[in-house]
Amino acid sequence: MKKVDVVLGLQWGDEGKGKVVDVLTPNYQVIARFQGGPNAGHSLHFGGQSFVLHTIPSGIFRDGSINIIGNGVVIDPVILAQEIAKLEATGVDVKSKLMVAKKAHLILPTHRILDAASEASKGKTKIGSTLKGIGPTYMDKTGRNGLRVGDIISPAFEERYNRLKEKHIKMLGQYDYQYDVEAYEKEWFAGIEVLKQLRFIEGEHVVNRYIDEGKAILAEGAQGSLLDIDFGTYPFVTSSNTLCAGVCTGLGVAPSRIGNVYGIFKAYCTRVGSGPFPTELFDADGEKMREVGREYGSTTGRPRRCGWLDIVALKYSVMMNGVSELIMMKADVLNDFDTLKVAVAYKVNGTETTEFPYETNEEIVPVYKEFKGWKQNINEIRKYEDFPVEFKQYVEFIEKETGVPVKIISVGPDREETIVR
Ligand code: GDP
Ligand code: IMO
Ligand code: MG
Repeated sequence: MKKVDVVLGLQWGDEGKGKVVDVLTPNYQVIARFQGGPNAGHSLHFGGQSFVLHTIPSGIFRDGSINIIGNGVVIDPVILAQEIAKLEATGVDVKSKLMVAKKAHLILPTHRILDAASEASKGKTKIGSTLKGIGPTYMDKTGRNGLRVGDIISPAFEERYNRLKEKHIKMLGQYDYQYDVEAYEKEWFAGIEVLKQLRFIEGEHVVNRYIDEGKAILAEGAQGSLLDIDFGTYPFVTSSNTLCAGVCTGLGVAPSRIGNVYGIFKAYCTRVGSGPFPTELFDADGEKMREVGREYGSTTGRPRRCGWLDIVALKYSVMMNGVSELIMMKADVLNDFDTLKVAVAYKVNGTETTEFPYETNEEIVPVYKEFKGWKQNINEIRKYEDFPVEFKQYVEFIEKETGVPVKIISVGPDREETIVR
């Protein structure tokens, strides 16, 4: 039986999922997003061009691919319409390759405002959300108030929209926050007209039919495992299940139909927004990672926090996702370090542990193992055998600790800068 393979991030997002999906798509006919929304920013580089996708699956550039926005995704019609327009301007026939699950929820203009108002009211304790309305939209989904893509064609759509908007306006009354709904609302309804031109599907039926027909399907995760609503560094997380389990609920796929799980990680760690980050660096090494790795948000442009690779967290993510193959990204960013550090345990109140704890706050002191840097440009390497011995030691240590093989290594942003073992 054919199964759905999964690509997902094992850290705090921005691991390089867009690039990996783009590299893997020649092996797949169907690419599906299963959670998250325009908080995601997935970058792709090929043929001297660069693109950032927010809602559309990263398979969209490949001829003949079918791309599905699953029921677990939340959609802002304005951002989706902008993405479509940009892709069409470069000659991508988006409308023939993209389908949208009717059960996907809509991000309303007032969801964005609520996100911003909530963040502003939190002051220093803010989540550092992308301000795309993700939290409030998922709240309305679980609160059973949300509007779904399938509702757009209902004659009562506008009335239902207005009812929800009024509810939001009442909620906004509790904040001291200035806002203007009308400006974004006009664009929003224009976006709804663009959305209407796409193929709406009963996602769960379509995906299961594709599995039965033997089509190769790849589920594309957004965010990262440590931003998962249940198992991430709560409350500094996103509002969806970013873990592999999210594929089941976000596409309508039974657990028995999940196949390979590709877990992507950077050779170091980054995080954007607030929240715990045990191996974070505040020195010249962290600065070097940010500059060499161009660690600035693809969605918000914010500088990303940088730090050493965290094996405690990585093992936790591997366990929670059932990762079958690892993919290591951005190793080239570490080309010029004399010494590399990897956290192999945490000291929590003086006690050492290798289990990712309930709270990952400032009480945690990482226990590091040091590695000799390879001090060599590895960007041109295309065969594993050709990597320097120090590099191989780093990779093989990660394999030993996690018990999972590193099958793909990325040494640059371009499609071609990829080594498949
Ligand atoms: P995603 O959200 O997981 O898709 O990741 P992002 O696109 O937000 O961030 C990853 C960034 O790293 C992008 O700018 C990519 O172009 C870039 N990138 C991906 N792989 C590599 C790599 O192996 N080396 C370098 N230097 N950059 C990479
Ligand atoms: P991709 O798919 C990195 C972070 C935000 C914030 C927290 C909550 O590109 O890896 P939200 O807007 O979801 O309510 O924000 O989650 N965050 C991401 N960080 N990459 C992402 O997506 C992210 N999506 C959300 O910075 O800390
Ligand atoms: Mg990103």
